[in-house]
Amino acid sequence: MTKTRILTGITTTGTPHLGNYVGAIRPAVEASRDAQADAFFFLADYHALIKCDDPARIERSRLEIAATWLAAGLDPERVTFYRQSDIPQIPELTWLLTCVTAKGLMNRAHAYKASVDANLAQNEDPDAGITMGLYSYPILMAADILMFNAHKVPVGRDQIQHIEMARDVAARFNHLFGKGREFFMLPEALVEEQVATLPGLDGRKMSKSYDNTIPLFEGGAKKLKEAISQIVTDSTAPGEPKDPDSNALATLFQAFSDAEDTVTYRAALSAGLSWGEAKQRLFARIDGQLAPMRERYEALIAKPAEIEEVLQTGAAKARAVAAPLLEELREAVGLRSFNRVAQTVAGDDKTAPAASKPPLFKQYREADGQFHFKLLDADGRLLLQSPGYASPREAGQRVAALKADAANASLLPGEQLGEGVELAAVHAALARFSED
Ligand code: TRP
Repeated sequence: MTKTRILTGITTTGTPHLGNYVGAIRPAVEASRDAQADAFFFLADYHALIKCDDPARIERSRLEIAATWLAAGLDPERVTFYRQSDIPQIPELTWLLTCVTAKGLMNRAHAYKASVDANLAQNEDPDAGITMGLYSYPILMAADILMFNAHKVPVGRDQIQHIEMARDVAARFNHLFGKGREFFMLPEALVEEQVATLPGLDGRKMSKSYDNTIPLFEGGAKKLKEAISQIVTDSTAPGEPKDPDSNALATLFQAFSDAEDTVTYRAALSAGLSWGEAKQRLFARIDGQLAPMRERYEALIAKPAEIEEVLQTGAAKARAVAAPLLEELREAVGLRSFNRVAQTVAGDDKTAPAASKPPLFKQYREADGQFHFKLLDADGRLLLQSPGYASPREAGQRVAALKADAANASLLPGEQLGEGVELAAVHAALARFSED
């Protein structure tokens, strides 16, 4: 059974709050426990440099976020947990991808466009304050994903475009340098529809930019209690019925409770529970779940060397995947050792174009885990498309059978001719494989 590789990055610019925990950390830790999942989670600290030029804040945030994920139950034995900046292959791949990425594609990135629009709205130069880091952000992100050939990338809605761009860049690289092999599989965004966005103190989405967050571990139970006491409520008096949906309390309660307890909490509000008491119950509920994690968090933060060791182990695992692939990619673009070039110059050049280009079988894997092949003519026109096979071996056997039976091959169920293609064209193409 093939595992699904899921990969996601966390930009290390802030301190995790309750919204991050419910919306991202908790579901990711749960997903990583699935036996079918091969999870890669990393601290996107190179991405953090794009948004922040305060070294102390970057350093603090990386430590806090690493400690938070470990305290929240991420098991570094199961999951590959690392820092982006410990994988030199990622910036190297970023450059290879940069060289095949259309500038026009980057011009369309939402985050970049928003910055340009903001400048224009203020009668500024359109590029004022925009770094090449911001502009190329999606390419670094594509490298994060493609370096590990991730199938599924759990992200928020705002990141979907970046995944689409990663697919575009991957397809372009495959097309230019793959010579029949797909170096990169095309990743898919995984957007959890039912993951609640948590409301903040003022009822709007909890977000650092609204300054309405409730801290997760920082400041301990005391800070948590303080923040909850600041949740905005109306002036309905104790004993009077309250609308459970008039503020953030019930939604926050629900995020840490099962359906039954949620119903009870809402009913108590409708029956006249005071806001003060309601906040007390909410605090008790959240703190009950966070306290044991907070204890682990504080122990970890006090021993950065232990976190470092966990991350170094994770980075070694990640590099073991990245290094061999990068080696192949370097070779594909023409950056191989001269020791091997010597042979090529001496006449053993398998990469030189033949007088008349042959047709091509391409084998590849789709995001659903199935293995496919297609037969293309010399100009890249699709002649034949296979259905999905459970293993590359089965797909390969079918390819071999087609080649062996060039003149008479007939189609199997699920195999499809390209648009406007006659079976005879397939036979002619297949015959080319037995020529020399
Ligand atoms: N850009 C993502 C965010 O801001 C973080 C990120 C960086 C990421 N690299 C990634 C997410 C790769 C998924 C995959 O949320």
